[in-house]
Amino acid sequence: MTLGILDGKKLKQIKMPEIVWDATLYDKQHHFVSDYGADVLQWLAPKADEHILDVGCGTGQLAAQIAESGAVVLGTDASADMIANAKVAYPNLNFEVVDGTQLPYYEKFDAIFSNATFHWIENQNALAQALFKSLKTGGRLVAEFGGKGNVKSITDVIKSAAEQLGFADKVLTNFWFFPSISAYATLLESKGFEVEQIWLFDRPTKLIGEEGMYVWINQFAQHAFKNLTEEQAESIKNLAVEILKPNYFINGEWVADYRRLRVKAKKE
Ligand code: BEZ
Repeated sequence: MTLGILDGKKLKQIKMPEIVWDATLYDKQHHFVSDYGADVLQWLAPKADEHILDVGCGTGQLAAQIAESGAVVLGTDASADMIANAKVAYPNLNFEVVDGTQLPYYEKFDAIFSNATFHWIENQNALAQALFKSLKTGGRLVAEFGGKGNVKSITDVIKSAAEQLGFADKVLTNFWFFPSISAYATLLESKGFEVEQIWLFDRPTKLIGEEGMYVWINQFAQHAFKNLTEEQAESIKNLAVEILKPNYFINGEWVADYRRLRVKAKKE
């Protein structure tokens, strides 16, 4: 599968991860995902009575913040576990289990919001098309996710740890969608969007606790180890953490080299 023509080139084939989401661990250990997402809400600037779709809402924190503006919010996520937790946490809001590439809506929303989700989605053409179709004319898309170079030091180190241990041919590291500014703007424009603002910026991200990097790799990069035994995977994870420690465990805290792509685009 290719992801379409971007930057005048065909995007490389990327096999996307089949990840098992643990919604409780996500809230406890990785709540920084929605904490940082609060910043991108400023680009959304929700207004009372607007109909807003939050794609990849996870356990619902940002959908709840959007709803505080008086907007009517629908949160969707492909993970039933995440949606179950969101419904418990915010019983007055609407949530549905829906795959972002198959949004069953037609010109329904004034705005679509998404944080830290798009990099997980394999079929980026279908996603962009589904977003465009779901928006009313004049509606806006505001999204933030991993951009070009995101978590590169972590994936490079996983690769080099696997090489050192003789598993270079078995470990996978290129399975997220982290586009450049031009690549993503071209994709949105090809579906009819007008891109109003787009940024790529470093956002070093603190991971919680002394085990933070191990827990991050274990949760988010689990797909990297799918062709390895548990024992082989553990040896790579532990060596990767050891290699990363001198540069990324700073003053007792782990820092991951996140780079975000943030975009605001309009359906004219
Ligand atoms: C991110 O939010 O950038 C991200 C999270 C998990 C894995 C890869 C990227």
